[in-house]
Amino acid sequence: MYHRNSYAARKYACMLTIFACMLPYCAQAQDGPLDNQAIVQRADHLLSEMSTDEKIGQLSQLFYFGPNINNPALSPEMPIEKAIAEGRVGSLLFVTDPAVINRLQKVAVEDSPHHIPLIFGFDVIHGLRTIFPVPLAMAASWDPAMVTLSQTVAAMEARSVGIDWAFAPMVDIARDPRWGRMVEGAGSDPYLGAAMAAAQVRGFQGPYIGAPNHILATAKHFAGYGAAEGGRDYDASYISDTQLWNVYLPPFHAAVKAGVATLMSAYMDLNDVPASGNYWLLHDVLRQDWGFKGYVVSDANAVKNLQTHGFAKDQEDAAVRAFTAGVNMEMAIGKTAYDAELPKALQQGLITPTQLDDAVRPILEMKLRLGLFEHPYVNVARSQRILADPSHHVDARIAAERSAVLLRNADGLLPLKIASYHTIAVIGPLADSQRDTIGPWTFDENLPETVTVLQGLRNAFGSSATITYAQGAQMQRKFPSMFDALSRVKKQPIWTPAEAQQEIDKAVALARSSDLAVLVLGEQQEMSGEAASSDSLKLPGDQEQLLRSVAATGKPLVLVLMNGRPLNIKWAAKHVPAILDAWYPGTEGGDAVADLLLGRAVPGGKLPFNWPRDVGQVPIPYAHNLTHEPQNQERRYWDEASIPLYPFGYGLSYTTFSFSHLQLDKDTMEWNGTLHLSVDVTNTGNVAGDEVAQLYIHQEYGNASRPVRQLKGFERIALAPGQTKTVHFTLGREQLRYWSQALHDWTFDPSTYDAWVGGDSTAELHAKFTVTK
Ligand code: BGC
Repeated sequence: MYHRNSYAARKYACMLTIFACMLPYCAQAQDGPLDNQAIVQRADHLLSEMSTDEKIGQLSQLFYFGPNINNPALSPEMPIEKAIAEGRVGSLLFVTDPAVINRLQKVAVEDSPHHIPLIFGFDVIHGLRTIFPVPLAMAASWDPAMVTLSQTVAAMEARSVGIDWAFAPMVDIARDPRWGRMVEGAGSDPYLGAAMAAAQVRGFQGPYIGAPNHILATAKHFAGYGAAEGGRDYDASYISDTQLWNVYLPPFHAAVKAGVATLMSAYMDLNDVPASGNYWLLHDVLRQDWGFKGYVVSDANAVKNLQTHGFAKDQEDAAVRAFTAGVNMEMAIGKTAYDAELPKALQQGLITPTQLDDAVRPILEMKLRLGLFEHPYVNVARSQRILADPSHHVDARIAAERSAVLLRNADGLLPLKIASYHTIAVIGPLADSQRDTIGPWTFDENLPETVTVLQGLRNAFGSSATITYAQGAQMQRKFPSMFDALSRVKKQPIWTPAEAQQEIDKAVALARSSDLAVLVLGEQQEMSGEAASSDSLKLPGDQEQLLRSVAATGKPLVLVLMNGRPLNIKWAAKHVPAILDAWYPGTEGGDAVADLLLGRAVPGGKLPFNWPRDVGQVPIPYAHNLTHEPQNQERRYWDEASIPLYPFGYGLSYTTFSFSHLQLDKDTMEWNGTLHLSVDVTNTGNVAGDEVAQLYIHQEYGNASRPVRQLKGFERIALAPGQTKTVHFTLGREQLRYWSQALHDWTFDPSTYDAWVGGDSTAELHAKFTVTK
């Protein structure tokens, strides 16, 4: 059942619980956080009793895919139970079956020398059993409260099966959509990225670490992974200090400020120093500057990789340098370098016993805070009930509705009027693909319950329309996906060119004989995510041909996109009247898309990046600097406009909005003061809808050149037809300061500033203010 009202109640209840529990009285509540002093003492006591090998064991995290994985490369080198019983494993990842988790936990709790429970980690990226839209989509909702609720549900499902720790949120800024992992983050902007990072941490962890039904979060991949050269996953990043401090690090800092328990060190070199052996990042920035008190886990095999980078001399050097840089726990396939090398390194004096205790302590503390010592096992029957909770589907459906972005709606084709269409052709390789509808980074879903767009439209139209389907096109990776080994879905045989043409013909014939065609195109889920970089933004396979052929029928046409990156839709943007970006919308995706197409839900999502016209434009952040020949800034290429197809923050609705009365409480902001801005937002159309009020600023002069615009505030608001709401923003030093290469430090400049407020990054409503010292 679909209860929109109960969703609103759940969303606000969730926020209230999180904020209320931050109040001091909650610390004494029965189910509040455990006493900090007691935790520290228990961890210290354990450390005083543990052997060196056991301590090093706590620093090892191993993949465990279970006995069913028929791939020696993915199986542990040592019998896992034996290693656990010897106290040589602190954590496992990739176990999702609660019965298996209980069985392995029992070995740790009963047989290991000090009965220290394991902590089970997993990539709970956008849901465990109930799959929510991919993180990029959730960022497009510009609705942090919804994002918190989505990750609260994900945490509850995960915790119920015994997963205590999510390797999420990924807070890497991505400005090059060739990089496949863009799908896992919040897009290109540090301000939106920071808001989404904090929202997700709150969702996973709840009001405090150890809150019932919550788990630890991981801000990853620290840091700079999104700037991989050429968008090629794992390749080195070269990021200037100014970009690092102003663009790439803020979402991590936001996660730390939100109390994130763990960080994951990235795979790649950052300016030639591997992130997983980078003392400056892991110590100076993270611990010294930001005061992080949790622990750092390496990305998978990233410690051993220090040798591959040409950084460490051998495996021992790799272990020592990752360890001394500040990687507490090593994630590895097979066996960790820490397990193999740190005992020797300790004997040789390359690391000290105090350093070892300091590395282990936060891991023990987190296990204690989670209550794993008292409650190491999960109730399998309860987990089955939680995984089947229908309210999670309501949340997933609404999340998908709130994440979709309406890119085009010529002549008001949308919302579709049910009575106008009796025959509908639903076409495209993604229209009826359950696996693609949920997107990458899902391994524990219940695939048959996924609602595809075809099914969603059938559910919505019921007997009032005959809905037919043609796949129309095929697509495939040139190189296999690293996740093929874990996939339960059988690949389709490749069509011959003749078969491919027949499929297009069939789709065209269906469209021709229908009142409406809905095309569902984009990228298969394995074309997005890890090791899924792309050298092109074209619609893969024959999809462009399919699109143009179907459009040529002249039938009313709606294009629904499924994607984790912007694609080249230049032709569609001119010729297809309605385009809805549904991203990978999750378990309830098809019903959500149908709600949106029929106007039962009104699109309100906004792009979390500038949408390039083609791959040659990337990177094309909206927050760029203005330099020579500003009058030609849209003509930097001779063969194509150098502005995006759609700007950052853009998204249409079924209604219209106006912004007016931009007011500042003062023209001059004092050095230590704040400035308040307010703006009226009015729904000027005939249906209720959401608008995202966005505040952008520009600093006119100072210690460094500053971007033409930077997002510094936003709020998604719901407005009834004709209704006006006033939105308030506050600016202060925190929002206006930046890191300057000229000073090699943070600066807050006396200057003149522009402010714009509106519904996207091209907003025109403008005011000026100055900051004086
Ligand atoms: C990815 C991480 C992920 C880990 C565990 C790595 O390959 O880079 O993001 O958390 O695998 O699955």
